[in-house]
Amino acid sequence: MSSLNYPTAFIDSIDHQINVLQLSDLHITELTQGKTLATNYDQLSCCQRFEKLLDQALKEPIRCDLILVTGDLVSKVCPDIYDYIFTVLENTNIPFACVAGNHDVTDELGAHLPFDQRTFLAKPADARLLSRHVIETANWQLLLIDSAIPGKVAGEVSTSDINWLSDQLTNCEKPALIALHHHVTPMHSSWIDQHIAENADMFWQKLSQFANLRVIISGHTHQEHVKHQHGVTVYTTPSTCYQFKPLEDDFTMDIDARPGYRWLQLGNNGQVASWVKRMDT
Ligand SMILES: [Fe+2]
Ligand SMILES: [Fe+2]
Repeated sequence: MSSLNYPTAFIDSIDHQINVLQLSDLHITELTQGKTLATNYDQLSCCQRFEKLLDQALKEPIRCDLILVTGDLVSKVCPDIYDYIFTVLENTNIPFACVAGNHDVTDELGAHLPFDQRTFLAKPADARLLSRHVIETANWQLLLIDSAIPGKVAGEVSTSDINWLSDQLTNCEKPALIALHHHVTPMHSSWIDQHIAENADMFWQKLSQFANLRVIISGHTHQEHVKHQHGVTVYTTPSTCYQFKPLEDDFTMDIDARPGYRWLQLGNNGQVASWVKRMDT
C-alpha cells in the first residue's frame, strides 16, 4: 500500500515538467479484475480495460507524475467499486486525484429502455471524489471542480465554482489547468451537447479574461477532441471502457474506437503538449 496522502496538494519533478495521465469514464459496474484469457479488448470488462490501460500507460517510456481521473468512475454507485479503484491507484505510488461524473452521483435505472424512459436516482458522492481542489506544481496550478448534479446526466459549473475559479486565477499567476467531468464547449453532437455543463456561457464569459488559464480537460464525451477557444486549449478524452461516435446527433456507440487515455505534458515554460493513446491490440 502506498504512503501517499490523498488528496495530493503539491507535486514537483526533477525537471519541473509535470506529466499528467488523464483517465476518464471507467464505468466499472462489477469487480471482474485480474487475469483473463481474452485476446481482444471487446471481451474485457470495464474493470479489466481500466487495469490493462493503466498498466499500458505506466509501462510507456514517460515518467508519470500525476494521474487525474475525470469522473464516471462507476456505472453503479457502490462503495466496494470505489475501494477497488482507489486501491489500484494507490498501488501505483503515483499521486492521483479523482472528480465525480454524473454516474458517480446518479444510478440510471432501466438501461435497457429508450433514454427518455429511464429513471435517474440521485446518490451521494463517494467522499474521496474532489471538489474545488487545488494541486500546485512549481510552474502550474491545477484546479479541480465537481460538475456533477445528483440525479441528472447534464452537469453544471455553478456560479460559486466560477467565482472560486476566478479567485484562484486572480490570486495565483501561474498557468492554470481546469479539470472537470462535463464538457464546456459543444461537441457538435446533439445528444451529447444536451448534457454539456450548464452555465458554460457564464463560465467562458468570466474566465476567458484570465490569460493564465491555459488548459481545460474533461471526460463525459467518450471521445477525443481538441479545440482552441479564447486562448485556452480544451481537451476531451476517450473512455477507458467504451466510446461514442463523434458528430452524431443521436446516441451512437463507436464500436471501432478502442479504449484510451490522454497524456498532458505541462512544461516548465507554461506550454502544454498532449496526445491520446489507445489500447494496444
Ligand atoms: Fe461517461
Ligand atoms: Fe458522464
